[in-house]
Amino acid sequence: MAKATLYFPPDFKWGAATAAHQVEGNNTNNDWWAWEQTPGHIRRDQKSGLAADWWGDGFERDLDLAAQMGHTAHRLSVEWARIEPQEGVFDSAAIDRYRYMLTAMRRRGIEPMVTLHHFSNPLWLAQRDSWETTAVVPWFERYVSKTVEALKDLCDLWVTINEPNVYAVAGYVAEQAATGDQVEASPVFPPGKNSLNLAFAVIANMLRGHAAAYHAIHKLQPEARVGIAQNMRLFDPARPDNVLDRFCAYNRDRLFNYTLLNAPLTGRYDRPFGAPQWIRGLKGALDFIGLNYYSREFVKFDRRQPTGWLFGQSVPNPDAVMSDGGYGELYPHGLFRLLKRLERTGKPIFITENGLPDHDDDLRPGFLLTHLREIWRAINQNIPVMGYYHWSLVDNFEWAEGWDLRFGLIELNVETQARRLRRSGELYGEICRRGLIDDGLVYEYAPALLDTLFPG
Ligand code: FCB
Repeated sequence: MAKATLYFPPDFKWGAATAAHQVEGNNTNNDWWAWEQTPGHIRRDQKSGLAADWWGDGFERDLDLAAQMGHTAHRLSVEWARIEPQEGVFDSAAIDRYRYMLTAMRRRGIEPMVTLHHFSNPLWLAQRDSWETTAVVPWFERYVSKTVEALKDLCDLWVTINEPNVYAVAGYVAEQAATGDQVEASPVFPPGKNSLNLAFAVIANMLRGHAAAYHAIHKLQPEARVGIAQNMRLFDPARPDNVLDRFCAYNRDRLFNYTLLNAPLTGRYDRPFGAPQWIRGLKGALDFIGLNYYSREFVKFDRRQPTGWLFGQSVPNPDAVMSDGGYGELYPHGLFRLLKRLERTGKPIFITENGLPDHDDDLRPGFLLTHLREIWRAINQNIPVMGYYHWSLVDNFEWAEGWDLRFGLIELNVETQARRLRRSGELYGEICRRGLIDDGLVYEYAPALLDTLFPG
């Protein structure tokens, strides 16, 4: 008999998330594949290659494990470059393959959520400046309409665009050094141009693309639910009493989180410089919020950083437990803080990504338990969190970090394509199947956390 139990609602969706380029393999016709070919772009010059072979039978094998874990939902993305390999030319075999994948999910009781753009662009679009000009908007709308028309009997939950802020920052803003020394750095995603102006133009065009897609989807499928997956981070002042640190943290938050969250609610994109932009069709074009949450940053004012001063420097939190490769601080309470903040929007919320790189899986069980507890708390305060998609189901190609960061509940041997469910996957399976966390489970998987999970 359990002494303490955290219950989740019976219709809560349990699952994991993946993205096409990271798992499918041989996505030779997109800008990421091209980017990987140039030495220096990807850590240790690794390549996506066969990835997790989701275009082959890796997909079925991972899906079987997801079903075995008791997943009831999965977030995947479809690859624009496969569906529309040349401008205006649509590939029915690629669409059939996606139909097959969604059907395979449904057969296993797994409800798909489909993302229409997750970082990668077809080469033909990259040759026409990707998202830098408004030309992309009708192209995106046409691709979305074709895709939704073809898949709508299998899916009614859509994410138009994944993380416009990350896409714009990683592709158009050089990374700053955490040491506070100015270093020459370049953006880590294609197209690798260093231009703040372009970054803001890209975000505005993604918002235009989202608005166009939102209405196109609803025209084809009135009952559809359509959202954006927003990457939100916590920005806290490194020295809480320092006014300048607080100012910098506030600015970062505004720039990275707030303006993007606000835009589809109000129709207005507040750029940090210049007048706000009103985007046609954007106001209210959001049925749910997708929250991708990973970590928080400590922000410090630094006068030696003339370009970064307004936004401060990110400095490590000396007290934090960090995930692999210094990827980020483990900060479960941040999830609750963000959910509290999102409550004001009045929209249903899905946690569309949450996870950590943890090759040896020593932190992931505790990560899962503590983050899910924060969601449980939020639900108990009547915040409408509808589901949780752990990033990720299986180890996959982590963009500029290559294969060095392992996010999977399933461990993948990239050479042999062998799979093994990690212990955290076993734990998550118990939670999904039972819809709860109890003291017995915590005792078995992370006994040191008993007091944290069940205080008092
Ligand atoms: C998110 C991306 C996802 C994955 C995780 C670790 O920003 O959406 O593709 O790379 O980070």
